[in-house]
Amino acid sequence: MDILNFENIFEGKLSRNEMIEPKDWMPENYRKHLIRQISQHAHSEIVGMLPEGNWISRAPSLRAKLVLMAKVQDEGGHGLYLYTAAESLGTSRDEMLDALHTGKAKYSSIFNYPTLSWADIGTIGWLVDGAAIMNQVMLQRSSYGPYSRAMIRICKEESFHQRQGYEIMTKMAFGTPEQKEMAQDALNRWWYPTLMMFGPPDVESPNSDNAIKWRIKRETNDQLRQRFVNQTVEQAEYLNLTIPDKNLKWNEAKKGYDFSEPNWAEFKNVISGNGPCNKERLDKRRQAHQDGEWVRAAATAYAKKQNESYQAA
Ligand code: 3HC
Repeated sequence: MDILNFENIFEGKLSRNEMIEPKDWMPENYRKHLIRQISQHAHSEIVGMLPEGNWISRAPSLRAKLVLMAKVQDEGGHGLYLYTAAESLGTSRDEMLDALHTGKAKYSSIFNYPTLSWADIGTIGWLVDGAAIMNQVMLQRSSYGPYSRAMIRICKEESFHQRQGYEIMTKMAFGTPEQKEMAQDALNRWWYPTLMMFGPPDVESPNSDNAIKWRIKRETNDQLRQRFVNQTVEQAEYLNLTIPDKNLKWNEAKKGYDFSEPNWAEFKNVISGNGPCNKERLDKRRQAHQDGEWVRAAATAYAKKQNESYQAA
């Protein structure tokens, strides 16, 4: 079969909303696009364990500690599914981790901000996991089978994370004046970095056109950001907290809120490696990788031995 026929089969599958599977023919740029996005997504999950892991030993109750531990562990699991999905496209775990550790690969900008108080853990669950779900619900219908299936489980767990965060915010916002002040302070600091999670405005997003064309994504960065704002305003009102944006205003014509853009110069600076915690996060990941060397060596030796006994039998 010549390349044109392969392309027709690929396009046909996309037009019928069928999944592309690892052994199917796919254009090289589609494969590269997926490896880039899925590996960045995987890195975001495992780097995202760090700002919250930081609070496990200081959680205010045994219940809060157990819930937070479960959540952080879930993020590690999400990384695992996503690395595995990316491996099915022909890259290796070592290559992906090497790109992370050498600073070549990106991960979500949001995890380069510090978690200064317990209210930050609530805000991360409420806003950051809330934004992640807003983006990831559409990825459950992504055109690449392994990515789409990984996202189904991830979304279920992210919903629990979002509720965990909102519960903390509810307790703090309706707690003592000091707790309410901490909740407001956390919202003030996390609001704009959360809006940045959706990526640059559509007109400045080099990857969006292909992502939509190939049905990797079904909605654009701006569409998702708008939907997130519309949904979150009511949640903030219920908590009696103020979103730090003087321009936030209902716009009847577009049936959505007008809102201020985040500082895109700050975003560029953070994703270029110069955010408040980039160095700390990468140092921690490199150290964790080094500390885990003996586990990888033992697992590889065990698998080799099992394989030898299987061959001998
Ligand atoms: N942080 C870091 N880099 C970002 C970014 C962000 N918030 N938003 C965009 N970028 C980067 C892109 O990766 C791209 O860089 P590259 O071309 O060098 O790879 C560049 O900025 C231009 O952006 P585009 O809009 O053209 O890129 P994308 O179409 O890839 O959009 C995205 C960016 C919205 C993050 C998209 O990749 C996506 O939907 N990814 C899947 C979801 C994901 O990765 N989420 C991570 C959130 S954290 C999380 O899920 C953990 C949970 O536990 C909270």
